[in-house]
Amino acid sequence: MSDAVVVTPAMTAQRAGEIAVSFDLRALPPDFYANPYPVYAALRDQEPVRRMPDGSWFLTRYADLVAVYRDAGVFSSDKKIEFTPKYGAGAPLLEHHTSSLVFNDPPLHTRVRRLIMGALTRRAIAQMEPGLVTLVDTLLDAIAARGGGDLIEDFASAIPVEVIGNLLGVPHEDRGPLRGWSLAILGALEPRLTPQQEALGNRSVREFLHYLRTLVAERRRQPGDPEHDVLTRLIQGEDAGETLSETELLQNCIFILNAGHETTTNLIGNALCALHEWPLQKQALLGAIGSEAAVDAAIEEFLRFESSNQLGNRRAVRACEVGGVALPEGALVTLSIAAANRDPAQFAAPDVLDLARTGNRHLAFGFGIHQCAGLSLARLEGRIAIGRFLARFPGYRLTASPTRGGRARFRGFLQAPFAV
Ligand code: HEM
Repeated sequence: MSDAVVVTPAMTAQRAGEIAVSFDLRALPPDFYANPYPVYAALRDQEPVRRMPDGSWFLTRYADLVAVYRDAGVFSSDKKIEFTPKYGAGAPLLEHHTSSLVFNDPPLHTRVRRLIMGALTRRAIAQMEPGLVTLVDTLLDAIAARGGGDLIEDFASAIPVEVIGNLLGVPHEDRGPLRGWSLAILGALEPRLTPQQEALGNRSVREFLHYLRTLVAERRRQPGDPEHDVLTRLIQGEDAGETLSETELLQNCIFILNAGHETTTNLIGNALCALHEWPLQKQALLGAIGSEAAVDAAIEEFLRFESSNQLGNRRAVRACEVGGVALPEGALVTLSIAAANRDPAQFAAPDVLDLARTGNRHLAFGFGIHQCAGLSLARLEGRIAIGRFLARFPGYRLTASPTRGGRARFRGFLQAPFAV
């Protein structure tokens, strides 16, 4: 337990209590982002189903999140009511975020999910492994040649863009703008947006759509192998003949490209930064690096400890009850994955990074009908990237404090300079 060295600034219980008392997702103080967990712990202790200043509800207990995820009939993922005033009628961000599967209920959700899952079978993912190993080793060679670099720019962010690019068959030379578009579009989901962020998000959706129209037209002319190529599957539709509309097709491609980017970048970046803070855990993992099971267990703990997607949202379609609190019809609910994954009722010593933790049923990928469709792929990327990085550079060290992204929903670093 005394393993942690201080890179993440400690927050006093008193300060966490102060932030919790006036907790408002739209007005978080700067020190919240460095370490939100004491604030979440205070909320979970004092008011686990918390009424927010805007009338929505903020949930921090593991059991309450599971109950909401389970009951998709009551807790809708459809965001049209919430997002129409947020982005404004006709805004590209509105069209995008209301037509992707993650923000829809059955039947659209079921149709799109089935198509995607058909290309992400266990076999299809296993076939990606050799290419992934080559990609990671190429990045590691470049790092070795330079004696270090930036963990995010030169390593963590370079992996998902290639993997998801391959999944949708985006030519290599076209991949440059993908990460920027993805950051801007997902960034627009933050509780509070500046006009600049909103404008950038809208512009990114427009540019992304423009690009995808050409890609889809080419793939229609020359279909790929539907066993592996998600775009071909989405174009061809189901065996029963039901296809997606052009809007559904394009917007869901954008979503898949985005969903696997920042989340996986942050899994890798957060893990390598966390190990720097927990040297005894790093030592133990290095001792077991040859064991796939040990690395897999470590990945699950990184996902729990610093969940890259920290918040989820649902809307109650009828009056209901969560954690003993009555919610009215239309209640907007924010699910704090970060808080649930540190709930002592579910995890022993939840604030300790324990890479050998067993029974780690974290909620980093959500749960229920919307549980992450890319979780096996993300786990594979995590295992190969983190495992091979550590094996190659066991003595790596951060050369300056890493810079946080400063966002409540997606937790990760923008920069983390290191030497090997
Ligand atoms: C560490 C990496 C990742 C994390 C932490 C993560 C997290 C999540 C979470 C929490 C959800 C549920 C959202 C909700 O219930 O509202 C989700 C959904 C989704 N994720 Fe991931 N994700 C990751 C990587 C990926 C990758 C690599 C892909 C690419 C294939 C992907 C594709 C999706 C899709 C398509 C959905 C929507 C599923 C649905 O609505 O049925 N994710 N992800």
